[in-house]
Amino acid sequence: MTDPQIVLTERVQQALANAFGSEYADADPLIRPSQFADFQANVAMSLAKRLRRAPREVAETLKAALSDFPGTVEVSGPGFLNITLDDSWIASEAAEMLADARTGVGTAAPSQTVVIDYSAPNAAKEMHVGHLRTTIVGDSLARVHEHLGNHVVRQNHLGDWGTPFGMLIEHLLDIGEEAAIAQLEAGMGTEYYQAARAKFDSDETFKLRSRVRVTTLQSGDPETMRLWHVFMDATIRYFDKVYGLLGVTLTDADIAGESIYNPMLEKTCDDLQAAGVAVLSEGALCVFPPGFTGSDDKPLPLIIRKSDGGYGYATTDMAAVRYRVDDLKADRVLYVVGADQALHFRMVFAAARLAGWLPDTVSAEHVQIGMMLGKDGRRFKTRSGDSIKLMELLQEAVDRADALLDERGYDDATRAEIARAVGMGAVKYADLSVSHDSEYVFDFDRMLAFTGNTAPYLQYAQARIRSIFRKGDFDPATATGPITLGHPAERALALQVLGFGAVVEQVAALSEPHRLAAFLYATATTFTAFVENCPVIKEGVDAETRASRLALCALTLRVLHTGLDLLGVPVPDRM
Ligand code: ARG
Repeated sequence: MTDPQIVLTERVQQALANAFGSEYADADPLIRPSQFADFQANVAMSLAKRLRRAPREVAETLKAALSDFPGTVEVSGPGFLNITLDDSWIASEAAEMLADARTGVGTAAPSQTVVIDYSAPNAAKEMHVGHLRTTIVGDSLARVHEHLGNHVVRQNHLGDWGTPFGMLIEHLLDIGEEAAIAQLEAGMGTEYYQAARAKFDSDETFKLRSRVRVTTLQSGDPETMRLWHVFMDATIRYFDKVYGLLGVTLTDADIAGESIYNPMLEKTCDDLQAAGVAVLSEGALCVFPPGFTGSDDKPLPLIIRKSDGGYGYATTDMAAVRYRVDDLKADRVLYVVGADQALHFRMVFAAARLAGWLPDTVSAEHVQIGMMLGKDGRRFKTRSGDSIKLMELLQEAVDRADALLDERGYDDATRAEIARAVGMGAVKYADLSVSHDSEYVFDFDRMLAFTGNTAPYLQYAQARIRSIFRKGDFDPATATGPITLGHPAERALALQVLGFGAVVEQVAALSEPHRLAAFLYATATTFTAFVENCPVIKEGVDAETRASRLALCALTLRVLHTGLDLLGVPVPDRM
């Protein structure tokens, strides 16, 4: 582990135990970046009360206990420990990281099975912008866990089942399979749904046909199932187009839609009832997990079978928990789903714990996705109030990127490829660079800017490093140093990249890709300061300095490249 903050935490903890007794070995030394040194430890202040000693005195004692330390320590102010690491330590840690094929990223031990439920658009409707965000965040988490050596099982919990499918299948018969397929493949699911719905509301015979069709679908009638497949396959082809353009790692093999749980729902209810976890209440079968009450203080039900005998969203999710734990052998289940479903998931998890389907050894986590807003601060929609078509939105991002590159003088031959990388990178990075549960404003101008915390800035930074190697005719793979730190900008860059492994592990532990985004942005700005101050291939730079700087460039390139890959942001060779 090369992350300075973690190394320092361990060292100071050791010193705490040596100075004040082993009961202090686990105390948090409160290591923070400092304005006056590399880091500061604030623990003396918080310990002073407990030890009934003056904070400065505690700090001095701690300082004395920090022997054999790879840096200098000073006591300042009321009792801060200001820590400055030795250049030689930073340089040797950086060299070690460069020699490490995993660039300082550890491997999960033991490896866990992480089930990630993400994307999950609904077949009967257009895949909307909210699903874009769960797709992008979920995909990044999948990439990070896989990189750490965890076994990732992607689960695309498509909305592909339920009563609307009676009406959707009947509409398919009315307009003909070919026309239906063409519409659905083109992403016109919303229009298709609305047309079916309008008939359902106005035409009694259509309504009746739809109701009958739901029953034949439930009973597995072969011809109805065939029609359902025609509908679903066309819909999935549209989703796949969106995934393809985005460069998302989901494949058809990851589809585990609501329909797969249909055969399990009856048993799900029966088992819960037999175990006494679910009870009948006004004809409906409900679980009342303790601690959930409505506004009237009455216990809140999780309805798993409606009074008309129908199953719902919660039934499917109860079956899904069991499947993920028993069959997929999950250690962790991440639900990357809109924040507005928080109560649903809290109740499902609580009910599953009650039933013993979710043992304490398995963690179920709702990774809440915040709403995407338009520039007007309201839910993101087109001016006419319709929700925005994803493919059109993504295409617009690519077109705008292309126009920007054109303005910047890129020639036609190279532009198309880069525009795609920049456009998709910008849309994805905008999602990933803010915390996943915050609402944020979808704004093309901001996400496509070449300065600031954006994809184009990071993509450009890594391309700039590649161009240094190209221009000097050097190969990043053979840039092995040795690293010597002379200029402060070299030192700052080396210190910065050392944090890479720790931040990747944090993203996995906390399900927060924005921490990696912030780290990469800080790396890119630190690199920019470095190249502005420290010429690499310019004539007159002596061989030793050049070798060291090339090594720092290579290390930074690997950090940026790997990091952007983990976010799912494309990494163009040239820009
Ligand atoms: N299809 C749902 C929606 O669009 C999301 C499904 C999330 N996953 C789950 N297991 N409920 O809101």
